[in-house]
Amino acid sequence: MSNNKILVTGGAGYIGSHVVKLLGQQGEQVVVLDDLSTGHAEAVLSGELVQGNTADTELVDRLLKDHKIDTVMHFAAHTIVPESVENPLKYYRNNTAATRNLLECCQNNQIRHFVFSSTAATYGIPAEDAGPCTESFPTAPINPYGMSKLMSEYMLKDLAMASDMRHVILRYFNVAGSDPEGEIGQSTVNATLLIKVAAEVAVGKRDQLLVFGTDYPTPDGTGVRDYIHVSDLAAAHLSALDYLRNDGSSTLLNCGYGKGFSVREVINSVEKIHGEKLNVSEQPRRAGDPPSLVAGVEKIHQTLDWKPAYDDLDKIVESALQWEHKLSEN
Ligand SMILES: NC(=O)c1ccc[n+]([C@@H]2O[C@H](COP(=O)([O-])OP(=O)(O)OC[C@H]3O[C@@H](n4cnc5c(N)ncnc54)[C@H](O)[C@@H]3O)[C@@H](O)[C@H]2O)c1
Repeated sequence: MSNNKILVTGGAGYIGSHVVKLLGQQGEQVVVLDDLSTGHAEAVLSGELVQGNTADTELVDRLLKDHKIDTVMHFAAHTIVPESVENPLKYYRNNTAATRNLLECCQNNQIRHFVFSSTAATYGIPAEDAGPCTESFPTAPINPYGMSKLMSEYMLKDLAMASDMRHVILRYFNVAGSDPEGEIGQSTVNATLLIKVAAEVAVGKRDQLLVFGTDYPTPDGTGVRDYIHVSDLAAAHLSALDYLRNDGSSTLLNCGYGKGFSVREVINSVEKIHGEKLNVSEQPRRAGDPPSLVAGVEKIHQTLDWKPAYDDLDKIVESALQWEHKLSEN
């Protein structure tokens, strides 16, 4: 625990709210800055929520000063890949330009630590026989979302050379599940990621689950992804904070479990836990989907004191379904 406060941007969103809850449980003092464009005020279970935008220099500057912030955790972003293809400048404005503004405020206020939510989308489509994707793989995003986040990574790296601020960039793989205590979860509208969509089909919020591609060079022909439980991801942020407070140098880490599950395996798990078959429709491959994307996780385990507690597909699915049922009751 430290006397200094942490600014969490996007702390009313899916992942940020799980981190805010955990920070509160650890006795950390938190200020959340969120414009509530996709987030929800009631998801902020700890600290103070300030409604506003990271692009608002005056507001950010004031928050950093008034609250004596020494660490920023930056989740605020737009996150829907197909939308980024249709409206790229929206993504460069909110994910890249607004991050540049936040970083400038951090520099002007001598912020010491910065934790950044990045994404496996920065890797693009790794070579088919390359194996788990390590941090040394080339970056080649195939959509504006991935590029907008990669540009922020570059800004952070350049700033680390020019200032005393140290950072941890966390590249998340497929985040899923919800708070096992059932207080918060994923409420994203028009979500595109498999487990959330499958849970919506299970509770009747969507008619069917579209499976894109059944002829990939994977064991059952469907795409393979590395799914990480949101509470384990939240714990990785607290470990990153400890690492920075213990003088760790700036670094970049994949966040996943290092193993993949196919779309069919995920559907089987949802059907088993839900107790009913899902209405599934098989479709041709979708442009830009890699056959398999699994994190190389040696570096995060070497660097952080992080021990995942929910590394189990059924546990992830169970918590996602539990949250979806709660949402559908409201
Ligand atoms: N969900 C995933 O699987 C995943 C995977 C990789 C990376 N990420 C990254 O994790 C972060 C959080 O994603 P999420 O899934 O929780 O999304 P989310 O949409 O639930 O959360 C984003 C939050 O940021 C807020 N916000 C957006 N732009 C803002 C701005 N300019 N100023 C203030 N608030 C703003 C939104 O209102 C929302 O509360 C994002 O940076 C995203 O790129 C997510």
